[in-house]
Amino acid sequence: MKRPLKVIVVGGGVAGMSFALRLNNLIGQGEVDIRMISKAPVETSNSHAAQGGVAAVIHANDSWEQHRDDTLAVGAGRCDVEVVERVVREGPGCIQELFKQGARFDTDAQGRLVAAFEGGHQAPRVVHHSDHTGAELVRVLQQQVRGSAHITITETLSALELLTMDDQRGRRCQGVIAIDIQTGVVHELYADVVVLATGGAGQIYRYTTNPVGATGSGVAMALRAGVPLRDMAFVQFHPTALYDPQRKQTFLISEAVRGAGAVLLRPDGTRLMEGLHPMADLAPRNVVARAIHSVMRELHVPHVWLDATPLGERFMHEFPMIMAHCKTVGIDPVKEPIPVMPAAHYLCGGIRTEAQGRTALDGLYALGECASSGLHGADRLASNSLLEALVIPRHAAA
Ligand code: SIN
Repeated sequence: MKRPLKVIVVGGGVAGMSFALRLNNLIGQGEVDIRMISKAPVETSNSHAAQGGVAAVIHANDSWEQHRDDTLAVGAGRCDVEVVERVVREGPGCIQELFKQGARFDTDAQGRLVAAFEGGHQAPRVVHHSDHTGAELVRVLQQQVRGSAHITITETLSALELLTMDDQRGRRCQGVIAIDIQTGVVHELYADVVVLATGGAGQIYRYTTNPVGATGSGVAMALRAGVPLRDMAFVQFHPTALYDPQRKQTFLISEAVRGAGAVLLRPDGTRLMEGLHPMADLAPRNVVARAIHSVMRELHVPHVWLDATPLGERFMHEFPMIMAHCKTVGIDPVKEPIPVMPAAHYLCGGIRTEAQGRTALDGLYALGECASSGLHGADRLASNSLLEALVIPRHAAA
């Protein structure tokens, strides 16, 4: 009897789960054995923390060409156009599929999907589940992963190194070394294919929106195995993390808040982004974060202000999680501006892959934030990351 294809997926976010599910659906019963490992519960992944949503063209007066152009403009000349086109064209299909699988995206009274504005987008195109879209995607995907007979998931295994071997065909990846963080036992896990979906590296910065697991471990493992990386200098700083100097992991105030009408203010109450960019508060993130940083340096202030008071009671309905968090630190966004500062948010570069997630090392794939697929270029368009984590894994699986 033919033995099943053995696959190890390192990471428990949207990219890893999308890949595992797609592969499981493509390969016949019993012909694949997918082992997902992660060093923490999937609810602690960066995917789970994602607030804004998934960028996809859903309105008749929008187009995939416009989504492509916005992605390329924000990527500042460093995107791979073919990858961008593939990903944005497949966005609407991914949303429909997730909808059918039970994802509760926000809809209007007629049951039609609604989309929010975020920075760099010329049209409202961020499909969301209130202000905790990532958690909703993880819920839907996780249910399917846990219900599959051919996918196992262990949330206490931290991958340490890639196992590689040289044979007559050259060098290939043959598994990972991982430590069980509860028992301390080190395992050698062998596989035909290893997929790194380990997320970002925000924790290497002083202030980050990323959870504690975002240490860049997958990128480091690939580098130690001699796998080429790309564009590691391009780290996106989110303009509006809640100013709270006691915390390394800062709470994100979603860009959708600015998309809904909130504006950035200097300490003297004047508009910060006015006159700096035609898209003002919704300019690409690198532009807004740099403008805030300049004000902080020039005026020696630790933060600027995000004024969401024009939204009034709408804030509570559209951003319930952000509202609840602000209240815990004594801020009422309906009545007063929120102190914000830029914080490390997203690794635009990573392990270099081609369009299907394949790396330069035979048998090794990289997906999601740890990968540099060519989609993001020098700066990532808002909400294109969950989109990438849904689209490219399909091709990797195929
Ligand atoms: C946000 O909600 O502002 C973050 C979304 C993203 O990182 O694309």
